[in-house]
Amino acid sequence: MSKLNKYKRFTVTSALPYANGPLHIGHLAGAYLPADIFVRYLRLKKKDVVYVCGSDEHGAAITIKAKKEDTTPQAIIDKYHAQIKKSFEDFGIAFDIYHRTSSPIHHDLSQEFFLNLYEKDEFIEKFSEQYFDEDFQQFLADRYIIGTCPNCGNPNAYGDQCENCGTSLNPTDLIKPISTLSGKTPVLKPTKHWYLPLDKYQPWLEKWIDTKEGDWKVNVFGQCKSWLKSGLQPRSMTRDLDWGIDVPLDEAKGKKLYVWMDAPIGYISATKQWAIDNGKDWKLYWKKQASEADESCLLHFIGKDNIVFHCIIFPSILHAHGEYILPQNVPANEFLNLEGDKLSTSRNHAVWLHEYLEEFPGRQDELRYVLTSILPETSDSEFTWKDYQARVNNELVAILGNYVNRVMILMHKFYDGKVESEGGQIVLADNHISNELGRFYGELEAALETYKFRQALQTVMEIARLGNRYLTENEPWKTIKTDPAAAKTTLHNSLVMIGHLASCLQPFLPHTVQKLVNMLNLPYSAIGLGEEIAFKNGHQLNPAVLLFEKVEDEAIDKQIQKLLDKKAATAPKAPEVVAPKENISYDSFATMDIRTGTILTAEKVAKTKKLLKLTIDTGIDTRTIVSGIAEYFEPEAIIGQKVTVLVNLEPRDIKGITSQGMILMAENAEGKLAFVSAPDGMHNGSVIR
Ligand code: 2FM
Ligand code: ZN
Repeated sequence: MSKLNKYKRFTVTSALPYANGPLHIGHLAGAYLPADIFVRYLRLKKKDVVYVCGSDEHGAAITIKAKKEDTTPQAIIDKYHAQIKKSFEDFGIAFDIYHRTSSPIHHDLSQEFFLNLYEKDEFIEKFSEQYFDEDFQQFLADRYIIGTCPNCGNPNAYGDQCENCGTSLNPTDLIKPISTLSGKTPVLKPTKHWYLPLDKYQPWLEKWIDTKEGDWKVNVFGQCKSWLKSGLQPRSMTRDLDWGIDVPLDEAKGKKLYVWMDAPIGYISATKQWAIDNGKDWKLYWKKQASEADESCLLHFIGKDNIVFHCIIFPSILHAHGEYILPQNVPANEFLNLEGDKLSTSRNHAVWLHEYLEEFPGRQDELRYVLTSILPETSDSEFTWKDYQARVNNELVAILGNYVNRVMILMHKFYDGKVESEGGQIVLADNHISNELGRFYGELEAALETYKFRQALQTVMEIARLGNRYLTENEPWKTIKTDPAAAKTTLHNSLVMIGHLASCLQPFLPHTVQKLVNMLNLPYSAIGLGEEIAFKNGHQLNPAVLLFEKVEDEAIDKQIQKLLDKKAATAPKAPEVVAPKENISYDSFATMDIRTGTILTAEKVAKTKKLLKLTIDTGIDTRTIVSGIAEYFEPEAIIGQKVTVLVNLEPRDIKGITSQGMILMAENAEGKLAFVSAPDGMHNGSVIR
């Protein structure tokens, strides 16, 4: 508890998952498993800790899903909140409360925060031009607009963030924005919103973030520094939406709080609810106290895509409010990949937690072990089913399980499972092992307190390795015949080491520890952290049970096949191709004069749905062509477009306009259109043949 020792209390949060889909192993490896391990450790250290989480039930993530499932946002959050909550419980994430942001206590607290800042005149109120979908007659939430990221060129960046490079964006930053509602280019329309002046807080933020150098993870600190370097801009805390928390102002009727304003406040409202349910004082966990030593240590466990919200925006809100503590650390993890590919909900490329729990009943700790071993702590990492199998079989079964099993079997074989010693209590009687254990405890705590959970788990496994070596070197199965006292000492020492293993495994493999204490015939409460379990003379052990069983090839092959099947099901279908026409002579073809050109102007033909009037530079002349593409292209979006033109087509009168030629288009079987154009550098009027 070196650095953390000065704190009286701990307030630990895991990112609130959107209640718009089930949990997968990427979620676990990002924000939940590390926090759960850490919290279990704090509890073992007898710290006062509250661990809060809940469903994030607002924002476009929910309304988009409702639209997709053809139902209401309320139905979506009810369905997924229940499912997520159950999966967490079944997997063994030890929240003190799993709350939800649709609760009245959360709505009230979020509005209170907004009004607090509003009354202090913190917000900048301004009209701005925001994207509006004319077909749907609504302003577009950030997530309803996609376009090209100006930072990395990802063509599918969202209006608030590019998930490829992590940059936080405003919708107007996107190149070629498209409304996901109508698929068309949205228009800009003025609307009033309330902005958090991040630029005003920048000097304060810089100072605060600088105090975290060397303490925060390099990736987290580095991202913060880079945003500060590029200069923060005011960020709107309200939205034109019909789902979310009402902005508590008369003049803001119909507007909602930005989901990223209300979601982190969800950590506080969850704590409030927990305090009500448990007779506690929530303020102790969130509000500044008389001295720093009395304060709580606030820790946010998140995935890397949430860094800006937890390190810049939420701290700014807390700072502007003034009464709240700030995060002491934000141990964000990178991403977990699956079988060589990014985890993806939309492509169904994921190992879903509820499916794992069903298909591998009673094997929560196997998944906890494998995920902890590969946590993406400093860079992205990868889960593969073969690796899962190898780690379970070669580490959990062959090292940890095997050690415990060898000792238990021999104790029963030689002494009917009774721990008996003339010296009374049975304690560790081997200096080398004591020293090694002392070293492991030191390493374990140091790793846990610096959020290096992979390393911490490996340290615990060293105890099992040490135990196996000790047994092999001392061979109690032989000495039982030649020196029975020595055999007994070896097995008693081994038993005490199992107690140490159980103690150290608690933060990582709680279900396994339960099995262990059952076998040892001890209450769970008998094992602290780093405290040796002394067995009483005459203590009776329970029969040995296997802690882990081998994962067979069949089970793994089935999982791999399942992923392949999902991939095949979601892969884009091979395009249908229209049947070929009859052959024609070369001479017929050669009568056509096809040239490259450029669209100079484009406008809709009045009273028609399909027609655009285009002016084309054909290289030969500038001419008018009427084209039936208005349903597919916005006029302003195609100005400057390179085209190919059949220039010797008989002129025709269309809606009173003389059309002189035809623009060639590619059309697929679904009727999707694209311009056919020559590469750059081919000047207008070039002949196509
Ligand atoms: O990225 C997400 O899944 C968000 N729902 C996380 C919210 S974290 C917090 F601020 F509530
Ligand atoms: Zn990007």
